[in-house]
Amino acid sequence: MSDRAVASSPNVISSPLQSLSILVLHGPNLNLLGQREPGIYGSLTLPEINRLLEAEGLKMQVKVFSMQSNHEGSLVDAIHEAIGKYQGVLINPGAYTHTSVALRDAIAAVSLPTVEVHLSNIYCREEFRHHSYIAPVAIGQISGFGVQSYLLGLQALVHHLNSAI
Ligand code: DQA
Repeated sequence: MSDRAVASSPNVISSPLQSLSILVLHGPNLNLLGQREPGIYGSLTLPEINRLLEAEGLKMQVKVFSMQSNHEGSLVDAIHEAIGKYQGVLINPGAYTHTSVALRDAIAAVSLPTVEVHLSNIYCREEFRHHSYIAPVAIGQISGFGVQSYLLGLQALVHHLNSAI
């Protein structure tokens, strides 16, 4: 039985479901949101996006923890450390989307359901942005809806986790 399942024996009082914990990872340069190319990425700052994600998580009774790094290895470490602590990962890998075999391998290695998100529509931009190393190891990708990409990605991830019980 999954550790989130409620005991079904008639002699056991049902315990509440443990709430899901989701790790949100933001890749390089996303710390500059708000001032970085606002015509492409919007005017919200990263702390504002994180607050919206936390509020969305509350609505779905999930805990959301966010981390940003400009360093590939730190993101790889965070993915490894997610094992046993988080049930899913929401990631905007930034430019590492298009370059990082290491991030892709880390996601494949931990086997945590992962949703890839992008503020901009990477398929409407320069050709080098059209390829994602992450997409083949993600359960899905949402691209082009600004902050809604993150919120929709979180909803999709939670829906996936809840229907996998
Ligand atoms: C991005 C798209 C990437 O191509 C770019 O390198 C980023 C941000 C996005 O959210 O639209 O840093 O991931």
